[in-house]
Amino acid sequence: MIVVTAPTGDIGHRVVQNLLHSGAPIRIVARDPSRLAEEVRARAEIVKGSHGDTGVLRKAFSGADAIFWLVPPDPKAASVAAAYVDFTRPATAALEEQGVRRVVSVTALGRGSSLADKAGFVTGSLATDDLITSTGVAFRGLAMPSFMDNIGRQAIAIRDQGKFFLPISGDLKLPSVATRDIAAVATRWLLDDSWTDQSEVPVLGPENISFNDMAGIISDVLGKAVSYQQISFDAYKARFVQFGFSDAMAQGMTDMAWAKDQGLDLTAPRTPENSTPTSFRQWCEETLKPAVLG
Ligand SMILES: NC(=O)c1ccc[n+]([C@@H]2O[C@H](COP(=O)([O-])OP(=O)(O)OC[C@H]3O[C@@H](n4cnc5c(N)ncnc54)[C@H](OP(=O)(O)O)[C@@H]3O)[C@@H](O)[C@H]2O)c1
Repeated sequence: MIVVTAPTGDIGHRVVQNLLHSGAPIRIVARDPSRLAEEVRARAEIVKGSHGDTGVLRKAFSGADAIFWLVPPDPKAASVAAAYVDFTRPATAALEEQGVRRVVSVTALGRGSSLADKAGFVTGSLATDDLITSTGVAFRGLAMPSFMDNIGRQAIAIRDQGKFFLPISGDLKLPSVATRDIAAVATRWLLDDSWTDQSEVPVLGPENISFNDMAGIISDVLGKAVSYQQISFDAYKARFVQFGFSDAMAQGMTDMAWAKDQGLDLTAPRTPENSTPTSFRQWCEETLKPAVLG
């Protein structure tokens, strides 16, 4: 039995589809099962509730071989550690209690870097991995750069202003990955029951690309001029506060962006094995263009 958390999210819903396609038995933990596709409700076992809840996890992890673990966003959390590490504590207790053998988790690049302890959400994510691995469970931490899909959150600015904004240098080439590729890698590790050790698996997308490169590709795909504008870290943080983030979580986003600007995402060397296929152009054609054109 494979258990999937966050099954309505960008990555999670794709993991669910992939696993259903493979025919593997799956169990889903969902706060609101009505948000799942009808086919999913018909074919998967469902445990209703949050994967931050001890009682829910006890039921969800009972008899499970492998877990897909994803810490959900908590913009109003009192601290990054509360959002990541404290959220995951009930799961580590349930993993041990129910004797789960394998966990595949979505985490971030940066382990081993001198920036890792001042990188906001990434620092929280790496501490969460340490908590899970301390149980002794077999573990694959899928270590991510920024998702291409983050650019999609600026679809309205791209449509109305012809611009998108971040505090990272426009010419810095960094890895960038599509959520569909993350889901494909997660599915492979979940279906493979041959591994028993703990390791990190970088998932780097097809190439390193700058935000200025992205602006050129977006312009090409949309057939109109779109530019990237670097903003200050203060302005970046202020936007999150304006969206309703707690000060600590807005600071966590900002610290993460600062560390990425210092090269945090360049810590894992690119290899054919950790490169994934979806190009930024393909992602723009298939995901950004429909979002911008509505
Ligand atoms: N974006 C990046 O560039 C990046 C880079 C590296 C790592 N990451 C990591 O990737 C993860 C985000 O993945 P994603 O984009 O696939 O997420 P997402 O699309 O935002 O999905 C979040 C999921 O969590 C569920 N959820 C929200 N609040 C919850 C709660 N309190 N309890 C239980 N479930 C809850 C949502 O379901 P319902 O609302 O339907 O319940 C949804 O299924 C984060 O852990 C982040 O640290 C992101």
